[in-house]
Order: sequence, then C-alpha cells, then structure tokens
Amino acid sequence: MMAAGVVKSLQIGRSGAFGVWTLTALLYAPPLSAAGDRALGEYLSSECVTCHQLSGQSQGIPPIVGRPDSHFVEAMNEYRSKRRDNAIMQTIAGKFSDAEIEALAAYFGSMKPRDTKTDRNQRGRR
Ligand code: HEC
Repeated sequence: MMAAGVVKSLQIGRSGAFGVWTLTALLYAPPLSAAGDRALGEYLSSECVTCHQLSGQSQGIPPIVGRPDSHFVEAMNEYRSKRRDNAIMQTIAGKFSDAEIEALAAYFGSMKPRDTKTDRNQRGRR
C-alpha cells in the first residue's frame, strides 16, 4: 500500500509541487500523524502563536492546542470559505492550502495545553 502511494506521488511530483509535498509528508510525517506534516506545521505556526498562546491560555483568543485534527481543520475551512465570521482568521486561513492546514492541525494538535496560571487563579478565587 505504502510503496504504491510513493510511486504514485513520484509520478505526480513531476507534474507539480503538490506531488512533492505529498511525497515529503509520506517520508517525514511521524507514524502517529497520518494526515499532516508536523514539521511544516511548526514552521507555519510562528505567525499563529503571536495571538494563540501555546500554553493554551486564552486571554480572549481561543486556545488552539491539543485539539483533535478534525476540529481544527473544520474551523480553518470555515474561515477560509467565509462560513465562519472573523475578518482576521478569514484572511489568515485564506492563505493556506489544504495540506498546510492539515500540517498546522498536526502540529497544534500534538501540543499539550498547560495552564501555568492555575495556581494563581485558584489563590485569587479563594
Ligand atoms: C491577529 C491574531 C491572530 C492570529 C495571528 C491568528 N489567529 Fe486564529 N483566531 C484569532 C481570534 C481572535 C479567533 C477567534 C475568532 C472567532 O471568534 O471566530 C481565532 C480563532 C481561531 C481558530 C478557531 C478556534 C475555535 O475554537 O473555534 C483556529 C483553529 C485558529 N484561530 C487558528 C489559527 C492559526 C492556525 C493561525 C496561524 C496560521 C492563527 N489562528 C493566527 C486570532 C488570531
């Protein structure tokens, strides 16, 4: 199965960049994330983390770490097709291809949210 996929990607690869990405994903994706290229996702994520905290804290912006890939991809597709209303995220999501969104999903989905503020919050609440 796998070998056939690689051969097919190689053939597509000659005719366009998409095939090259498919091949790259097949070769470098860690075994557990079948869909997205996590390393590519990490590279693309630098723009996102200025707003979305990697710690999973919110501060008004929803955390996007530790989400199932499908939820993440769905949200991005909704922004991209303007079915979900948010000018910032519509612009951002509009720049990415399906493969790039899957890569971002693989990266953010693999991060564990950690609430470093828990102690302070609990003390504040008494
Ligand atoms: C300028 C700030 C900003 C940047 C940069 C940004 N986002 Fe967002 N993002 C937001 C805000 C604000 C929302 C909430 C919008 C809404 O209410 O729908 C959001 C929502 C989301 C959601 C939906 C979350 C949910 O729970 O529904 C996802 C997924 C997401 N962003 C992914 C990304 C990714 C991936 C990137 C980088 C490629 C990125 N964002 C960059 C501000 C930002």
